[in-house]
Amino acid sequence: MTNSASSDHLLNRPLELPCGAVIKNRLVKSAMSDSLADGEGDPTDAQARLYERWAEGGLGLSIIGEVQVDPRFPEKPGNLVLSADSDLKALHSLASRASTNGAHIWPQLGHAGGLSYLSISQPKGPSALKIGGFRCAGMSDTEVSQLPDMYARAAILAKDVGFTGVQIHAGHGFLLSQFLSPLFNRRKDQYGGSIEARCRIIVEIIDKVRSAVGASFPIGIKINSSDQLEGGLTQEDALEAIRILDQTSIDLIELSGGSYFPGAKSSSDSSSRGPYFVEFSEKAKSLTSIPLVVTGGFKTREQALNSLANGTVDSVGLARALVLNPELANDWLAGTSDKPDFPRFEAPPQGGITAWYTMFLTAIGNDSESNFDLDLSSAIHLYEERDENRCVTWQRKFSRF
Ligand SMILES: Cc1cc2nc3c(=O)[nH]c(=O)nc-3n(C[C@H](O)[C@H](O)[C@H](O)COP(=O)(O)O)c2cc1C
Repeated sequence: MTNSASSDHLLNRPLELPCGAVIKNRLVKSAMSDSLADGEGDPTDAQARLYERWAEGGLGLSIIGEVQVDPRFPEKPGNLVLSADSDLKALHSLASRASTNGAHIWPQLGHAGGLSYLSISQPKGPSALKIGGFRCAGMSDTEVSQLPDMYARAAILAKDVGFTGVQIHAGHGFLLSQFLSPLFNRRKDQYGGSIEARCRIIVEIIDKVRSAVGASFPIGIKINSSDQLEGGLTQEDALEAIRILDQTSIDLIELSGGSYFPGAKSSSDSSSRGPYFVEFSEKAKSLTSIPLVVTGGFKTREQALNSLANGTVDSVGLARALVLNPELANDWLAGTSDKPDFPRFEAPPQGGITAWYTMFLTAIGNDSESNFDLDLSSAIHLYEERDENRCVTWQRKFSRF
């Protein structure tokens, strides 16, 4: 245990990234798919307000979850999209409000691959697959070869509208996480087989994004410490992936775990005692000099201080705690509170907790969270209904892609 009075400075210390950019403190808002875009991949006022609230709340870095590089493969119809058709003015306003107080704001560049939203896509992963009720098609060689340019185009757009960095999403079971996973990636070419081969597309994407955005623009990545799924990415392979990432121009590696594959464990739905991935981070730390953010299960300031104090973590990633209290960073930096009030859910259905937190995000974006009193089943119902209602507008906008 740390003596919290003597370790207060650990949260306040700026973090300098390899590219030279500086994050003003050690608290990161991990990506959360907020489902607050307008159903055409563009930002809404509530969405800009949400990130503005977190920036006002003192965070060093906020990451916007699931910002799609290809509208054919979204995670949800409430995602943002970075494409030639994007509303640049609205994106500019989002980036500007979200960087209040010198906060960094990075979109998480996503592609849901085999897990893309069924009503508006035809899911396609690294390989054609059928597991139980799950099915997806496999990407052709040409489609794989187009990925680095696709991510690079999205990253340039992000930079142009004022985002201060990007995060490449390679976690939680979506496309690049599928490439890493032997369960999803059955390819026999240079992108499948050994962990080096399964990492190859990620390294190509990083290289392409770096040459597009230049040497001083931050590029982060989120990867799993393990998929927690039989046949998925193991801890040993994840450590090997860290070793490979160490040789790239990545600026910040975020470690998390779990998968949104149907039936798998996801960390946003977990109610087990955290923090979850600090032991993995300890091992990863010996393999790389790139700064590490660890996300999953942090609930108290004391836990955050302990992880920073023992040097296994460079920054602490938070998701649900920052929904319950968008001012948490200021509170922890000042030492005025230790822990938000976490709700307890009795026997929640799969995905239910994540749905509840997503609806809470909407309330924060509308400055109305003090009235938020949805129970789990009403939250799930509203969450699903809102997404289904957006499918028509999404298809209308993106049918030419
Ligand atoms: C509502 C919600 C949406 C999420 N969406 C994303 C996402 O878009 N991208 C991502 O990488 N992780 C996503 N996550 C996972 C979080 O980033 C985080 O890894 C996980 O919740 C564990 O952290 P926590 O215990 O602090 O909540 C989401 C979590 C929640 C609660």
